[in-house]
Amino acid sequence: MYNSIVDGSFSQHWQKKMRRGVFFGGLVLGFFICIYFTPYQGPLPFGADVTTRVKSRIVCHFTEPESDFCEMHGDIRILGNSSTIFIPDFRVADMFTKNNLSGIKPYARKTDEIALEHVRQFSFSQEMPRCTQNHRVPAILFSIGGYTGNYFHSFTDVVIPLYTTSRKFNGQVQFLLADKNGSWTTKFQVVLKKLSNYEAIDIDKEDGVHCFPSMIIGLKKYKELSIDPLTSPDYSMTNFREFLRSSYYLKREYAIRLGSKEKRRPRLLIISRKRTRTLMNEHELARSNISEVSQLVNSCDVLMGVHGAGLTNIVFLPKNAVFIQVLPIPSGDFERIARTSFGDPSETMNLRYLEYKISEKESSLIQKYPLDHEVFKNTHTIAEKGWFYFKSMYLENQNVKLDVLRFKTTLLEALQMLSM
Ligand SMILES: *[C@@H]1O[C@H](CO)[C@@H](O)[C@H](O)[C@H]1NC(C)=O
Ligand SMILES: *[C@@H]1O[C@H](CO)[C@@H](O)[C@H](O)[C@H]1NC(C)=O
Ligand SMILES: *[C@@H]1O[C@H](CO)[C@@H](O)[C@H](O)[C@H]1NC(C)=O
Ligand SMILES: *[C@@H]1O[C@H](CO)[C@@H](O)[C@H](O)[C@H]1NC(C)=O
Repeated sequence: MYNSIVDGSFSQHWQKKMRRGVFFGGLVLGFFICIYFTPYQGPLPFGADVTTRVKSRIVCHFTEPESDFCEMHGDIRILGNSSTIFIPDFRVADMFTKNNLSGIKPYARKTDEIALEHVRQFSFSQEMPRCTQNHRVPAILFSIGGYTGNYFHSFTDVVIPLYTTSRKFNGQVQFLLADKNGSWTTKFQVVLKKLSNYEAIDIDKEDGVHCFPSMIIGLKKYKELSIDPLTSPDYSMTNFREFLRSSYYLKREYAIRLGSKEKRRPRLLIISRKRTRTLMNEHELARSNISEVSQLVNSCDVLMGVHGAGLTNIVFLPKNAVFIQVLPIPSGDFERIARTSFGDPSETMNLRYLEYKISEKESSLIQKYPLDHEVFKNTHTIAEKGWFYFKSMYLENQNVKLDVLRFKTTLLEALQMLSM
């Protein structure tokens, strides 16, 4: 299985090198090394602003690239068990019809049909049922279905968009969760509690009518792991990371700065993957505890790992830390995905970014295919066979064995960055 910077064979290789003193002997400073194992969960594939106003009380955004979302002010009611939102304005239905929509799926990956299969659609009605519960604060309705079994997607599709959408209410907001299933809310309870002073409502099961003075339906999302500086000028990834640091009580704001006075060695965190069956991913995810993982990550100065969801942990690194993304075969399109998922976002997080592209010799695919095979030479023909085939070929069935001498240059570069 794909993984493992530190799989069995590599550790032996590594140990041999270490005995020979080739690797660590060469690195005068050395690192304190921590290893964090995660199951492989790569980001899944990725899938104009017309704002429609009705009586200036309703603003819906249908042309944002990642999500449709509406802000409605006035008398808004919701009956969860029938997925219906009530608003006494006939133009809402028109607005949706004009955009060929019969309702809204409040998950920020709107062109991804596979994600949306696991997202409930909410429709609108003008008939106003009697309220069974009145709320004084606004509501935000969003789905935690979609791909939230995946750590990367939890952050990029939900946590960051939720932060961007809800932070301005300063806790005075009621979350309505659709597609609540499993342990997601337990896993992210620290973040949910910080953003809302009220216990989130599992809306799918509610058979009473909840009434609100206003409601935001869906979350606002920009690019992967990012916040748009133009449309969300009050928030940035710097604020978001500061928010995480305070929520999880992370001590370090800045990474080590190597210089004459610094006696401590920098800490290198290797995000690796255990050999797990893919089916076990969800259990693995449920087990890992963000409070603990974030402490570990925050204590390190360099984080390295092969492209995969575990790299999402860069959000917890201190400022000026170095992030090394190891790119497996193939290059090209895959590099672009790696860059948009983690490389570019890391640069908006005040981190220093390095990429290490493995050579064919460092890939386990070399044991299965000759060098002139399409797996190496014609990677787009594999891509054309579909994402699941591509993923199985390159992500789930490729091991990476680093050539430590070749990799050494990248580590030295990281050290160099830590002294700037
Ligand atoms: C809605 O669908 C019709 C027919 O399929 C199409 O002509 C129109 O452009 C679509 N409108 C929008 C806003 O997508
Ligand atoms: C959660 O969702 C998965 C897939 O969508 C489904 O198979 C499972 O039964 C659901 N679990 C619960 C507790 O609803
Ligand atoms: C995570 O670990 C912390 C401390 O070790 C504990 O207080 C917390 O309840 C755990 N969280 C979850 C979701 O298990
Ligand atoms: C929702 O709950 C109400 C009240 O219990 C019930 O009358 C209605 O049939 C339920 N609707 C659905 C779609 O289950």
